[in-house]
Amino acid sequence: MPGDGLDVERLRADFPVLQRAMNGRRLAFLDSAASAQKPQVVIDAERDCYERYYANIHRGVYQLSQQSTQAYEGVRGTVQRFLNAADEREVVFVRGTTEAINLVAQSFVRPLLEPGDEILITGMEHHANIVPWQMVAEATGAHLVVAPVLDDGQLDMAGLRERIGPRTRFISVVHVSNTLGTINPVESIVELAQAHGIPVLVDGAQSAPHMSVDVQALGADFYVFSAHKTYGPSGAGVLWGRLAHLEAMPPYQGGGDMIRTVTFEKTEYAPPPQRFEAGTPNIAGVIAMGAGLEYMMTIGRDHILAHEKALLAYANERLQGLEGFRIIGNAPDKAGVLSFVMADAHPHDIGTILDMEGVAVRAGHHCTQPLMQRFDVPATVRASFGLYNDTTDVDQLVDALHRVKSLFG
Ligand code: ALA
Repeated sequence: MPGDGLDVERLRADFPVLQRAMNGRRLAFLDSAASAQKPQVVIDAERDCYERYYANIHRGVYQLSQQSTQAYEGVRGTVQRFLNAADEREVVFVRGTTEAINLVAQSFVRPLLEPGDEILITGMEHHANIVPWQMVAEATGAHLVVAPVLDDGQLDMAGLRERIGPRTRFISVVHVSNTLGTINPVESIVELAQAHGIPVLVDGAQSAPHMSVDVQALGADFYVFSAHKTYGPSGAGVLWGRLAHLEAMPPYQGGGDMIRTVTFEKTEYAPPPQRFEAGTPNIAGVIAMGAGLEYMMTIGRDHILAHEKALLAYANERLQGLEGFRIIGNAPDKAGVLSFVMADAHPHDIGTILDMEGVAVRAGHHCTQPLMQRFDVPATVRASFGLYNDTTDVDQLVDALHRVKSLFG
């Protein structure tokens, strides 16, 4: 978009898959909230690892192993810069957001819980930020408490405030809703929680790909995200946690590489982050994740956010007047996510027709079934933007929606 500081035409050339056609049409990839496409630097980083220096890490005295260890461990510094973390030991490599939340639920929160205690989440959480809390609640007799969502898709902050009580032990909240695009005021939520001495996890799966995050300024206790949404590979991700918490937490899984000494009588655990990285990790994946984060930092996350917001505004404008079209989620502060329904057409049918026109979107409940119930829809169609999207993608989407309208209207 003019004036947003992003040369999208040049950036699109970094993504090989965007050059291919889909059903004989130009590919308009509008499903980055599900998983982003990968730039050549990420593909090269993973390939380079396997082609030139792959070996298991932390184990070999030989050079290959030392080189792969160095590359893998070097990504902690990259993540530290990406999040402005105080210490690289606060960076734990995991499989993704889901594993990070499960780790915190089992290792940090579960030991805090007594019967009758409460874990507070919001009505716009992804299943990955609901089910792990239900699991620890079920095991301990604690309860899940849910802050409501307003009709326009904003979090009901007054409702959240009211639900913080003497039994609230933990708050876990999504930074950016994957379904609505709402950017939540996580700084205010953290401030509120801190006033009550309650630790907070921020689910950054949908914020890390779009905006600068400064975990020190944010003041939360945990922040988690996945590499596959930040232009890196699947199967890698980050748990950032305050060092004092990580040092006090028991391991989540036992195995190799997370110990200091093992005897049959007793095992002494390694300090964090190794304590939480049992077994051979996704070595090349973590290295490629680092390349994706560097790529985003080079472009500049403020530019990325400005670009995606401008695209969203353009899409909103172009979709005005399309009869029977309804956007779900109209919060004033939104990331580049456009969820919608259309009268007389099921979201899955819309998704299939869009695919025939070369437009890739997600149709379904987006792993947020309670949110679908809240808005009384079975599913939505969701177009979501990445740094490589341009107005041509939006035009292609709008034209395809007019075709849907002509078929169903
Ligand atoms: N959580 C991802 C999405 O929103 C998979 O599509």
